[in-house]
Parts: sequence; structure tokens; C-alpha cells
Amino acid sequence: MSGGMRELDGRRAVVTGGTRGGIGAAVTARLTDAGARVLTTARSTPDDVVHPELFVASDVGTAEGVARVAEAALNRLGGVDIVVHVVGGSRQEPGGVLALSDDDWQDAFAVNLFASVRLDRALLPSMIDQGRGAIVHVTSIQRRVPLPTTVPYAAAKAALTSYSKNLATQMAPKGVRVNTVAPGFVETAGARGMVSALAAADGVDENTSRRRIMDSIGGIPLGRPARPEEVAELVAFLVSDRASAITGAEHVIDGGSLRTI
Ligand SMILES: NC(=O)c1ccc[n+]([C@@H]2O[C@H](COP(=O)([O-])OP(=O)(O)OC[C@H]3O[C@@H](n4cnc5c(N)ncnc54)[C@H](OP(=O)(O)O)[C@@H]3O)[C@@H](O)[C@H]2O)c1
Repeated sequence: MSGGMRELDGRRAVVTGGTRGGIGAAVTARLTDAGARVLTTARSTPDDVVHPELFVASDVGTAEGVARVAEAALNRLGGVDIVVHVVGGSRQEPGGVLALSDDDWQDAFAVNLFASVRLDRALLPSMIDQGRGAIVHVTSIQRRVPLPTTVPYAAAKAALTSYSKNLATQMAPKGVRVNTVAPGFVETAGARGMVSALAAADGVDENTSRRRIMDSIGGIPLGRPARPEEVAELVAFLVSDRASAITGAEHVIDGGSLRTI
């Protein structure tokens, strides 16, 4: 974008998980393009960080890691207008629900629920003070259709959705909006790696491998996974003033995978 005012000029944003070609990287690029100053985080520092002052190496699955991100945001940005919590993830748990240990459950809830709770708790006071803010939590369609191989993940995303709804209600009178974005299959760089690995392991081409993954989640009527940039577009809308009356809502982006109404 060039010339004139951009939609998020002057806004200060925190995006978790902003590297490795994932959804967070696309959100970081999209919000930056719209004029926001975006501080992002990941556990490892990529070689090609353009603005080191806008990157914090930190594990948001821990209380200390979240505190480090929040402190950097308040110090380096001087406050926060937008928070997009993208980090999350699942491990395949092939042994069934009874094989899950306390650690399996705690690990899933640490990144998929507590990272949001802790980050919001640290950053919301400054948003409330200024009477303005927008928060997006990235969940998953698994919060509604849990897969049997990722039970703690689906449960944690459901908890994140419930928490987000309550937060939205409590924050609305203070000028802060809270929404969730629930993706289906998104072809991130990581997902592309998985498609290739499964293709090699099964001796099939990548289209077949991709189709098998799509079938495993019940198919995608649109015929393809979403792109990270498409999820970023939705997030960019939700944090903008164009969405000024939208709060407490879940926004599914799944190419039609969910068949429920
Ligand atoms: N991709 C999909 O199909 C899909 C579908 C539904 C929902 N989602 C949700 O969308 C979100 C993003 O998924 P994605 O596929 O884009 O992820 P991804 O490609 O695996 O990207 C993960 C990003 O987060 C960082 N990260 C991971 N764990 C972290 C931690 N504990 N602390 C700080 N940074 C961390 C990674 O960098 P480091 O490894 O260096 O830390 C990387 O920057 C997740 O919440 C996921 O549950 C994704």
C-alpha cells in the first residue's frame, strides 16, 4: 500500500506466533501493510528478522514467556490497541483418551488457553485505560467438531471460545471488542510440509495426500484448504473500525467444512 492514510495507521498490535509461514506470519504482514506497528513473537528467532525491535523470542506456553511479551509490547510500542493470539497447536495422541497424561492435558491448555488468558490479563488494563481495543483469539473448527486423535486440543479450543465470549461481554462497556476466528484446514508452510511428508510416506502425489487430509476432516466443499492470507484478511477486518459493532462472535473460515448451522 502507498500514499494516503492506511486503515490501521497509528495502531499498535501484538501478534503471537508470527513466523514460519503460518497464520500469525500472514496476520503480521497484513496488519503491518495496513499501517499498524506490529510486535510479534515465536520461540525461535528467524534469520531474516527485519525489525528486531518488533520481535520477541519467547514461549507463550509459559507464564514467564507471556510476561516477557507483554512487557516488551508496553515498553516498545508504548501501549497496545490490537492483540491477536494465534499460537496454538495439537499433537497427535494415537493411544486414545485414556493414554493421555496430565502433562499432555497441561501442555495443550498452556498454549491453547492460558497463553490468551495471561496475555489479555497483562495487556487489557492499558486498553481499558484508553477506552479502545480489539482482540482476536484463533481457535479451530475442532472446538465444535473434536477429532478423536486431538482430544486435549479440541477441549482447550472450546475453553478458549467460552472464555472469549465472557471476556467480550465484560469488555464491551469499556470499548474493547473480543472475537474468535475458527479456521478449518489452512495450508500454512507447516501444513504444506505435512502434505509432502505424507505423500512421500504413502507413495502418492501431493494432490492425493492433500485430498486425504481434507477427507479426514469430512471434506471441504470449496475444494481446497484456506490460505494463511485469507485468514489474515478476516482478522484484519475484525480488528479494524469496519467491525466496530462486532464483538463476542465466532468467525469460521473453513471452506464449508462445518455442516452444522
Ligand atoms: N493450520 C491449520 O490448518 C489450522 C487449523 C485450525 C486452527 N489452526 C490454529 O491456527 C493457529 C496457527 O496455526 P498455524 O498452523 O499457522 O501454526 P504454525 O504454522 O505451526 O505456526 C506456528 C507459529 O507459532 C510459533 N509458536 C509455536 N509455539 C509457540 C509458543 N509456545 N510460543 C511462541 N510462539 C510459538 C512458531 O514459531 P516457533 O516454532 O519458533 O515458536 C510459528 O511462528 C493455531 O492456534 C492453530 O491451532 C490452524
